[in-house]
Amino acid sequence: MSTTSIKEVARRAGVSVGTVSNVLNRPDLVAPSTRARVLSAIAELGYVRNDSARQLRAGRSNTIAVVVLDVANPFFTDVVRGVELAADELGVMVVVCNSGEDPARERRHLEQLEQQRVRGVLITPVEDQPGSRLEQLIRRGTPVVLVDRGSSPHNRCSVAVDDVLGGRLAGAHLVEQGHRRVAFVGGPPSIQQVADRHRGVAGALAGTGAELVVVATPSLTVASGRQAGAEIADRPPGARPTAVFCANDLLALGVLQEMTLRGLRVPEDIAIIGYDDIDFAAAAAVPLSSIRQPREQLGRTAAQLLLEEVEEGDGHRHRQVVFQPELVVRASTGGLPRAPVPG
Ligand code: RIB
Repeated sequence: MSTTSIKEVARRAGVSVGTVSNVLNRPDLVAPSTRARVLSAIAELGYVRNDSARQLRAGRSNTIAVVVLDVANPFFTDVVRGVELAADELGVMVVVCNSGEDPARERRHLEQLEQQRVRGVLITPVEDQPGSRLEQLIRRGTPVVLVDRGSSPHNRCSVAVDDVLGGRLAGAHLVEQGHRRVAFVGGPPSIQQVADRHRGVAGALAGTGAELVVVATPSLTVASGRQAGAEIADRPPGARPTAVFCANDLLALGVLQEMTLRGLRVPEDIAIIGYDDIDFAAAAAVPLSSIRQPREQLGRTAAQLLLEEVEEGDGHRHRQVVFQPELVVRASTGGLPRAPVPG
C-alpha cells in the first residue's frame, strides 16, 4: 500500500493540496498543463488515493463547517475569509456556526453538524476536555481542526498563534514604556487562548518589579471591556494601573470607550494594548496597539489541514501549526504615563 501522501504529490508537482484534490475529484477545474504535472507526480511517487477516505467523503456533504466563538468578533470574520479562500479552490461549501462562548449551544451545533454529515469541522472550542461533545465527534470519525488554539492531545490538527509569546510581547512593551502596574483584562480562563496570554504577560513582568493586576471578564466582548474599564477607573488614582493589556481587541475597544467617557486620557493617564489587530484597532479614536494574529492565514491553513485529513483518511498524520504573533505599536501605548492625577 503506497504511503505517499497527498502533500508529497503537491510538493513534487509544485501545487497546493487543494489542486491535487481537484485533479482527483474535479479535473475540469484544473488547467491541462497543471493537471499533467500532477498526474506525472502521482505516477512518479506511486500515490494511491485512500479509498476509505473517498468512501467517507462519498457519504458526506460537500460542506465544511466553521464553529466560531463569537460571530460579532471581526477576528473570526477574517479567519472565515481565509477558510473560504481555501474552500473555493476545492469547490467546497462553508457553513458558519456561532457558539457565542456558550457550551450548550456549541454542543447543539456539533450534534447537528454530525447529523448533516459535514466533511469536517474547523472550531475554536468552548469545551475541549475529555468526554466533550467535540471529542465524541472526533472519535466517531468527523475530521476536526482546532483554530486559534493549540491541541494538547494530538488526535487532531490545530492552527494557532503562540499566545504565551503574544502575552509576553505585550508585557515587555508596557514595561519598556515604564509602566509599573499593569492590568490584564480577559476571561473566562477556561478559554486556552486567554490563559496563555495571561501566562505570557505574567512572565514578562516577573522579576521587573512591575505589578500585574488581573481583572477577570465573563466574556471577550466590548461590553465586558467597558465593565473592566469601569473597575479600573474606579480605583483610587494612586492604586490605579497605568496600563491595560486586554486578551483581545474587542475588550480593548471597550476599555478605551469607558476611559474616554470618564475623562481619562489614553495613553497619558492609561495605556491600552489589545490582541488580534483587527481592522477596528487601527481605526479606533485612539489607534490601538495590539498583538497581531495572521487571521486569514489561520483560516486558510486550517482548511487545508482539514482537506488533507479527509483525503488521507487513516494514513493522515495530525499536525499542530503555530504562527508567531507580532507587536503593533500605535498611539494607545505611545506616550509614557503621567503621574497619577491627584485626588
Ligand atoms: O479565540 C478566542 C479569542 O482569541 C477570540 O476572542 C479572538 O479575539 C482571539 O484573539
